[in-house]
Amino acid sequence: MTKFQEISVSAPSKVILFGEHAVVYGMTAVAASLGLRTRMRIRPHTSKIIINFPDVELQEAWSPCQLEKLFQFKPDFFDQVDAEYLDRIHEFLKVDKCNLRMASVICFLYLYSVIMDEVGVIPMEIRVESEIPIGAGLGSSAALSVCLASGLTGVLHQLNANNTQDNIFTTKSAAINRIVCKYAYLSEKILHGNPSGIDNSISTYGGIRSFKAGELTPVESLRKLRILLVNTNTFRNTKDLVLRVKEKKNSYPEIIEPVLEAIDGISTRFLSAGSLESEAEYYKTVTDLIEYNQSLLSSLGVSHPTLDDVCLTLKTVGMAGKLTGAGGGGFALALVPPTLPEKILSKAIDQLEAKGYTCYQTGIGVHGFTIEKS
Ligand code: MEV
Repeated sequence: MTKFQEISVSAPSKVILFGEHAVVYGMTAVAASLGLRTRMRIRPHTSKIIINFPDVELQEAWSPCQLEKLFQFKPDFFDQVDAEYLDRIHEFLKVDKCNLRMASVICFLYLYSVIMDEVGVIPMEIRVESEIPIGAGLGSSAALSVCLASGLTGVLHQLNANNTQDNIFTTKSAAINRIVCKYAYLSEKILHGNPSGIDNSISTYGGIRSFKAGELTPVESLRKLRILLVNTNTFRNTKDLVLRVKEKKNSYPEIIEPVLEAIDGISTRFLSAGSLESEAEYYKTVTDLIEYNQSLLSSLGVSHPTLDDVCLTLKTVGMAGKLTGAGGGGFALALVPPTLPEKILSKAIDQLEAKGYTCYQTGIGVHGFTIEKS
């Protein structure tokens, strides 16, 4: 058995405060990591490569020989997805392209073959468990992608004696973060087609950051933000929603492009609002920006009756809400201003939960991925 030490990794979910969809077209977005995390454990196995995702009741096992045959066709580049190789993985697993349940396995096989290239197929057992609701806009796939990218890099760094460069266990260097983020981005491309990269970047680095055209910048002069998250419990598919906006933009560029630019303006205005002296003015501005952003997202066709209902319910108690992530269901977020009486917040939560939605309050701006040998 090829020896490496058992590894535990974790990566956070994310919430997009402003700028989803527009960010796909190079506009500014602002996002924060969330306290809900995905955790992955990798340990050596005597003879097989086993993956275990109990959250989606998925377990698969292969012999090294089976994977070696598949991996002969792996690409030697990883900035883009090799569509032919992806087709081979689908054939190997005997799944069609729309099988979302198997998406995590497809990403695992793709990343395994690319990352472990130098050391070959090593038997191991991987177990992934997550606190993040799946397919709801909180970046569950990005957190999984970051876990796979960092965990497999961790195995590689233990086995590859030629690695004289940064080691993922000893240095949290910019180079290591870049590698993890890059592999996670590749996995996100497998899952979502043409993602902006904001989800995997936030899950890798953590914190509260703005993102524009692939560049991540920490948000300075930010006031404390308390956020209520509301799950509409309506499942949706990010890839389809991103495509929906693309089709609208292609059909009505003279209408949709200004909408995307207005969303960019909202993110930019939020970033400068931190310097407002008056607390009341700050929270009034953020409330307005949330409402404008929701209206613009609605005009892009990515809201949903449940999301509209959540925003309306919040408005009746004086709170502002917007969808977060790709929309079409999934999560909404609401600002909880410091002046809002707890009684009003509880009333809003009771009303929302009575309608079948689920409310969460969790910390934002937590640290990015972690990795350790156990
Ligand atoms: C998904 O979390 C955010 C979108 O803007 C897509 C992307 O940025 O890739 C809808």
